[in-house]
Amino acid sequence: MTELSRLHIACKVTAMTTECPTLNHHSHIKKRFVRLADAIPSKRAEASGKLVKVTGETLEVSGLRAGIGARCSIERKGKSPLNAEVIGFDGDRLVLACEELVGGVSPGAFVTVVEGSNQIEVGDALLGRVLDGAGKPFNGKPVFPVEAYPLRGSPLNPLDRNAIGQPMDTGVRAINSLLTLGRGQRVGLFAGSGVGKSTLLGMITRFSTADVVVVCLVGERGREVKEFVEESLGEEGLKRAVVVATPADTSPLLRVSGCWRATAIAEYYRSRGLNVLLLMDSLTRFAQAQRELSLSAGEPPVSKGYTPSVFSSIPNLIERAGILGGGSITAIYTVLVEGDDLQDPISDLARASLDGHIVLSRDIADQGIYPAIDVEKSISRSMLNITEKEHQATTKIFRNLYVTYEQNKDLISLGAYRPGTDKKIDLAISFKQRMSDFLSQPFDRASNIDTDIAALKELSDEISSELYGSGNITTDSGDGKSFVKEG
Ligand SMILES: Nc1ncnc2c1ncn2[C@@H]1O[C@H](COP(=O)(O)OP(=O)(O)OP(=O)(O)O)[C@@H](O)[C@H]1O
Ligand SMILES: [Mg+2]
Repeated sequence: MTELSRLHIACKVTAMTTECPTLNHHSHIKKRFVRLADAIPSKRAEASGKLVKVTGETLEVSGLRAGIGARCSIERKGKSPLNAEVIGFDGDRLVLACEELVGGVSPGAFVTVVEGSNQIEVGDALLGRVLDGAGKPFNGKPVFPVEAYPLRGSPLNPLDRNAIGQPMDTGVRAINSLLTLGRGQRVGLFAGSGVGKSTLLGMITRFSTADVVVVCLVGERGREVKEFVEESLGEEGLKRAVVVATPADTSPLLRVSGCWRATAIAEYYRSRGLNVLLLMDSLTRFAQAQRELSLSAGEPPVSKGYTPSVFSSIPNLIERAGILGGGSITAIYTVLVEGDDLQDPISDLARASLDGHIVLSRDIADQGIYPAIDVEKSISRSMLNITEKEHQATTKIFRNLYVTYEQNKDLISLGAYRPGTDKKIDLAISFKQRMSDFLSQPFDRASNIDTDIAALKELSDEISSELYGSGNITTDSGDGKSFVKEG
């Protein structure tokens, strides 16, 4: 409640009290209060508007002045007020999207602006909690945060960003060794439905070395939220985590604001010098919710029904991760690749905006290899800056043989390849099982980055000595195809 409205009510009440006959001798005071109360414009008259139209979950309000992004409250008969956000305007009318179903609102309902709503409440009390998109805890127990933090703060100044220079142990062998991620890096986890994105995120959540993990589950099935919290995080994992969950049955506004909230919570911990891991499952659902919002505000679609604001909000969201001061946000965003089409506009934009992509393949999952990482299509753009030359060389050797097999696998499986025709293909066939075993990892077994790099070197050394004769390989010739033998 604003100071103005408090004062207004106080004056009105006092004015009424002065009607009391026993206080008649104070009639001069009564007159002054009544004059004062009437002189102060009513909060409703000045800072409220009226609901004039409802279409689906989009509302139109007249008589209210508020900026885009302002939070509003709409009175409902016999129900708690409905929260909404200004997403556009048409002439004098504001267009609002609401947080929940519009049941209970009536024509002419009063709409007021909620002050301070561009700030969220943060603090250590959030650790171990599961919140909805509006910041309310799911398990009922109240949260007592201590500080306010801007919900949609500004993206990092590019000159304030520190370079990614330190590898991060994700606890997943294939990533640690072949797609090494750095602290502060932002990567996409791309896959079709049911290929293992959430399971891999769960592994990274449990096994990675981060001070705080912020998990944002957007548009998931409600059952999956419980599974993620109880199984992927577990009691121990939850202690250093904050989960923001907006399941599929919540409004697009809550799904979008849940993503901003999770990002802001991660920023808050980074501002305290901590290394934060931010996991968003999924960026596609964020884009879809943003599309729903902007279409209902009247924005025209441009590509696959996506509106221009979707293409601007994704980089805005992603750009807030990274290293700043002593803290970092390493972010992993899952991207649902519809129909396994990597050219989908959201996949395309995410791939271009992020510092790397890990692609999961249905073919690999069908072979029972989990995590089903497609080494050929995946890349960590920071890897060259955070790994030793020797490690990079061993990666190339592994990748090279892996790709050789993948490119010839149809010939091999059809029996059209005659062994002895090509030495490298022969070697790829003989190492196939060992390469698959190297990439496979049970979802409940953590790995360690130093052991993973050592294991990759051992395997790559064996491959290169088979290919080029005995000896240790430490560098490659630079063309990614042949290797220089040393020692
Ligand atoms: N590491 C693993 N080990 C064994 N099975 C796995 C593993 N990862 C995924 N799976 C199998 O794949 C299924 C789907 O996994 P998951 O839910 O993680 O996929 P998803 O890509 O997140 O799916 P969606 O697109 O529906 O969100 C699991 O139910 C499980 O059967
Ligand atoms: Mg999933």
